[in-house]
Amino acid sequence: MRTFTNRNLIELTNKGYTKLRVLEDKEVSELISECESLHTTYNNDEWINRGVTYPSKGHAKKKSAILMISVDENKELPSTNDIGNVLRDYTSYNNDIISRVTGIKVPQSTRHMINFRQYLGKTEPVFEHFDGEYLKGFIDRKDYHFFDEALLPRFVSLLTLKGGGRCEGAVLVNVVSGEEVNTCVEVGEMVIFNNIKFKHQVPKLIEPRILLGMRTFDYLPYHYILEPKDGYVSLGDKINYGYVKPIGSGEATKLILNKTK
Ligand SMILES: [Fe+2]
Repeated sequence: MRTFTNRNLIELTNKGYTKLRVLEDKEVSELISECESLHTTYNNDEWINRGVTYPSKGHAKKKSAILMISVDENKELPSTNDIGNVLRDYTSYNNDIISRVTGIKVPQSTRHMINFRQYLGKTEPVFEHFDGEYLKGFIDRKDYHFFDEALLPRFVSLLTLKGGGRCEGAVLVNVVSGEEVNTCVEVGEMVIFNNIKFKHQVPKLIEPRILLGMRTFDYLPYHYILEPKDGYVSLGDKINYGYVKPIGSGEATKLILNKTK
């Protein structure tokens, strides 16, 4: 039984992150196979061209399966019949948490981008970054992650499916103060955090690790632009020194779909 207590709600609202145990061991292995099978089904040109599956960068020690899913029918996305039970429940649970925090119910057809990421051995660090749908001017270098325009989800969750126990994995970095928070998430635990208040990074890993990241780009995200404009406020970041404004889900969906045209 997955819970989200008032203490979690207060932590996520005030501190900007909270940690939860969400999966039993049996569900962990089921979820890994569900993600692998979903990727096998949808990792092809048709779905890549539709902007649903994201081409994965080949890397000997890192494998990523990135695609959009929804809990209930969304005609743009993979069939919900192909999404396994554990993944569907977990996505629905993420919807429930975000509904609690924002006070606005997340529709079950909302698109979530999942990133099923396998680190297969010793790997180099992933530099601090905001998760987002980068719409224009994206530059990704080893130590630099810049964009001209983006949709930034309010919240990102990271679930550990393999290799907890060494406090490796995602580290949150406070955008304004630079303070780092190592969440030390164990297998079966997730951390959900405010993606405007915190960037995140993955340190150099020693042991293999599997993480499942989840975020929604079209549920009340922030729109990021480079130049100041009415209604936008500074993001406060040194690298991405632009401005953000919360926007509605309809506007966000249009921006996503325009990108794929
Ligand atoms: Fe990330």
